[in-house]
Amino acid sequence: MHASVALDRAAVIAPVNRRLFGSFVEHLGRCVYDGIYEPSHPTADEDGFRRDVVELVRELGSSSIRYPGGNFVSGYKWEDGIGPRANRPVRRDLAWHALESNQVGIDEFARWCKLTGSELMMAVNLGTRGIAEALDLLEYTNHPSGTALSDLRIANGAPEPYDIRMWCLGNEMDGPWQLGHMSAEDYGKLASRTAAAMKMVDETLELVVCGSSGSGMPTFGEWERVVLEHSYEHVDFVSCHAYYQERNGDLGSYLASSLDMQYFIETVVATADHVKHKLRSKKTINLSFDEWNIWYLDEHRNSDEVNDEWRFAPRQLEDVYSVADAVVLGNLLITLLKNSDRVTSASLAQLVNVIAPIMTEPGGEAWRQTTFFPFSVTSRLAQGAVVRPVITCGNYETKVHGTADLIDSVATFDEESGRSAVFPRESQPVRSVHRDGGCARLRSGPADGSCVAARRRRLRQEHAAASGPGGVEAHRVRHPRGGHPHGDTAARLVDGARAQRAKLT
Ligand code: AHR
Repeated sequence: MHASVALDRAAVIAPVNRRLFGSFVEHLGRCVYDGIYEPSHPTADEDGFRRDVVELVRELGSSSIRYPGGNFVSGYKWEDGIGPRANRPVRRDLAWHALESNQVGIDEFARWCKLTGSELMMAVNLGTRGIAEALDLLEYTNHPSGTALSDLRIANGAPEPYDIRMWCLGNEMDGPWQLGHMSAEDYGKLASRTAAAMKMVDETLELVVCGSSGSGMPTFGEWERVVLEHSYEHVDFVSCHAYYQERNGDLGSYLASSLDMQYFIETVVATADHVKHKLRSKKTINLSFDEWNIWYLDEHRNSDEVNDEWRFAPRQLEDVYSVADAVVLGNLLITLLKNSDRVTSASLAQLVNVIAPIMTEPGGEAWRQTTFFPFSVTSRLAQGAVVRPVITCGNYETKVHGTADLIDSVATFDEESGRSAVFPRESQPVRSVHRDGGCARLRSGPADGSCVAARRRRLRQEHAAASGPGGVEAHRVRHPRGGHPHGDTAARLVDGARAQRAKLT
């Protein structure tokens, strides 16, 4: 079958926005502890940060980094993570049922961001806390000097303010698993008041209000409408979160996951613009896709990775990725770029060890997953302006997303250097169509899908063997028994009274 991708340099979507190559570090599993921070590691610096990981983060080309959560932030007291390390309290993290040593806090993380050359994007706790604590954190991080909290920062070794520009107003407040989960009405009011107060301090801050945790949420769309009607004039972005995985051996649907992301973006843009016109506002709200990735949630469900023990930095959500996963991740990145006129910030969730492109072993190596490569290559080569190509190709039917194109692509053109780059996604089914002259093979997804499943099993086995003692079995039980709503039906959302762990049971 003939397929072509034609480029017209004038078909500009938007200038390449570096913030689309953001990432995410949450105090979850081994992302921070034994991930970016391991004081006893041979490459550790004076702060305890692994230099080998810093190098990989730089190579990945991650621009901004969202911190410190995620679900974690909804129970977090930022004050626990400042001052002499010996005095910092150990706390329970209810989101992931783990112990938090607070050995890494805002001051260390700001230094780490400098090392990696990335912008710090901060989330405030609107789950168990509110306006006062958000203002305190803002004073601590951004005020130059001469106030109680800015002087405390200086005393803690940071004479210069961090000048954090982007702030998330809580995390996934639409999710019943979220500590302090609220209705859209309640959250919209709280977010609006918090944003208004933060802008009284600095009206140039860029504030992100929580949108939906997935397009499968029962409140999807309506949540954004209500929240934005309350907060529109005080905020700058609405967030989107989406995770994808191959299910039931259906590779064809999996490879078309970006269609869900496209639907997600279009729905949120339409809703935000509806509110804009309803309120007769002059301003336009953009999207911060601040959690997106591949996450094998279904595989986590039957493990005891999240259990009743209170442990420091347990192995949680350590997915090992295949080539198919890398293809899908690349396609999601293409989709973000194609929508970069409205999606002006994005964060791959997450960065190290937890559903991550970079993995580490304590005292050992740091290594790149398959998903590292589409991200790093795109981040490096996307320069200048994003250009929409004209694609001519066949399509195929998917069980989950309807009709999907066999090819997807986006391009960039850099006027200054005269260089262009084309980012294509050609999926396995494209080749099948070429060879077999039809998409019948695709519809018989299980055959292809079971190959992918087998590859994933083998990858995991190899990884477990390479990880040393404990082998496959030790690795397998490290997957959590997590259920999560992303891209899924409402039925999976709430599982009884243990609200925070509804996600995991
Ligand atoms: O990235 C893992 C988790 O996914 C985050 O903590 C949460 O915000 C989302 O549900």
